[in-house]
Amino acid sequence: MRDVATGHIMTDWKEHHGELFGRHPLHLQHSLHKSELFTDAALARLLEKADRADYHVNTRSAGPDGKLRRREGEFGDLSGVQLLEAVRKGDIWINLRAPQKADKAYGNLLEDIYREFEARVPGLKTFKHLVTILISSPHVYVPYHCDVPGQMLWQLRGRKRVWLYPASEPFLPQAAIEKLILGEMHETDMPFRTWFDESAKVVDLEPGWMLHWPLNWPHRVENQDSLNVSLTTEHYTRPVRNAYGVNYANGLLRKAGFRTLQQQGSGAAMYAKLALAAGVKFSGIRGTVAKPYTVDFRVDPDSPGGHRDIEPYVLRK
Ligand SMILES: [Fe+2]
Repeated sequence: MRDVATGHIMTDWKEHHGELFGRHPLHLQHSLHKSELFTDAALARLLEKADRADYHVNTRSAGPDGKLRRREGEFGDLSGVQLLEAVRKGDIWINLRAPQKADKAYGNLLEDIYREFEARVPGLKTFKHLVTILISSPHVYVPYHCDVPGQMLWQLRGRKRVWLYPASEPFLPQAAIEKLILGEMHETDMPFRTWFDESAKVVDLEPGWMLHWPLNWPHRVENQDSLNVSLTTEHYTRPVRNAYGVNYANGLLRKAGFRTLQQQGSGAAMYAKLALAAGVKFSGIRGTVAKPYTVDFRVDPDSPGGHRDIEPYVLRK
């Protein structure tokens, strides 16, 4: 929903934010938390319409070795209202991708967001936009990780604390981002040490606030004591795509035995690496096999934690 007074999604934008965009963290105000697209009724409707391929519901439980592991679940035949109730009382989180399939208003909103940023940030041109709705229980946390595309996190309901870390050694080893881009490492397997927090930027994110950080900055997130509803939006720009291609090529070269690999942002070496990355990626040599998931719980608002165990089965998406 556009801010009634200004017609804008961003409500405290100042001209200098355009200079900071993509280079430094931006913690700004928006109007999306007032939108009718994110009421309980709207979210319940979306959850009921979601294709199985477009959602994940997760929790964490201790395995036989005592270590917490992430688990995949299913909605079963619960109504949207029951699902929200389970999240509110439980210890689960839902990632709902592609809400525009159920209602094109979400797709329009996504395009409006980027149109507004492109109008405000000099020279910005974005593509490959994605939006995901995150609905998560009180105290749920997202471990240390980094994301490959450009990212924004929009808080709609509840409060969360976000820690942001620089995208450089030792916080982000160059080999780690390469492995992530090559699909050889799960994003949350990024090595974390508690002293990283001494260098973190910590932001308490409240409804009506959003956060944008520079490309690949590692981060972790902890919900405070209430149900959280957030959006993540993802995008590419030419520099983001070039960084992806250079890291991809560097990852291949590292596997071939090279050790000192620069992350060029321009010039002939960058284009050579982009050609290498494109050649390998589109040749199909490396093949991309969708990872199967083992689903072993069903959401249940009447069970402790908002979920109960079921006979495990394998789901391929
Ligand atoms: Fe993330």
